[in-house]
Amino acid sequence: MTDSARRFLFLPGSTRHMGNSEQLARLAAQHLPAGAEQHWLNLLDYPLPDFVDLRHDGAYAAPEGHAQTLADATLQATDLVLVMPLYWYTMPVPTKRYLDYWSAWMRAPGLDFRTRMAGKTLWAVVASSGARSEVQPLADTLLLTAQYMRMPWGGLLFGNGSRPGDILQDQAALTAAETFFTAG
Ligand SMILES: Cc1cc2nc3c(=O)[nH]c(=O)nc-3n(C[C@H](O)[C@H](O)[C@H](O)COP(=O)(O)O)c2cc1C
Repeated sequence: MTDSARRFLFLPGSTRHMGNSEQLARLAAQHLPAGAEQHWLNLLDYPLPDFVDLRHDGAYAAPEGHAQTLADATLQATDLVLVMPLYWYTMPVPTKRYLDYWSAWMRAPGLDFRTRMAGKTLWAVVASSGARSEVQPLADTLLLTAQYMRMPWGGLLFGNGSRPGDILQDQAALTAAETFFTAG
């Protein structure tokens, strides 16, 4: 690995393993830019306690346990890929909780999280059983999040499916997956 190599961190956030969103992301991950590394942390395997807003109650402690694992991996990546199903027109709880923790990590001593996040590219891979248009509120949320963090927005790869494996019938998604991380 050279220092300039891109390091993609994939963070599946579904409440089930190897569902449609993760299957689509794994297909897209076969077509990363040349030389890029990939690292996967399924948020189901690194559960975080419910987030509590302590901003105005003193200092946040440095992350520990799964939070430390996730924070370290996040900071080591050049590219963050949030992989998730659409739940009620928005993101599922594991993904939301992970993002809420960014608020703590930005204020944790010694992490310099906000500064170090700037410049990393944020991507999303989303599966739903409905139309792409219904994912737009989530796409807007993620774009605003990227802008707030001064992270370039890579884009959102969408696929359609309900039961795990349905995604493999969405030919448009499979085709888009082949160039998602390299187009543009
Ligand atoms: C709690 C819950 C909420 C859902 N909400 C939506 C929704 O708002 N719109 C939609 O099209 N599909 C919705 N779905 C369907 C999932 O997005 C769909 O099954 C998706 O393929 C699941 O991805 P996964 O296999 O990666 O978990 C919902 C499913 C669950 C369990």
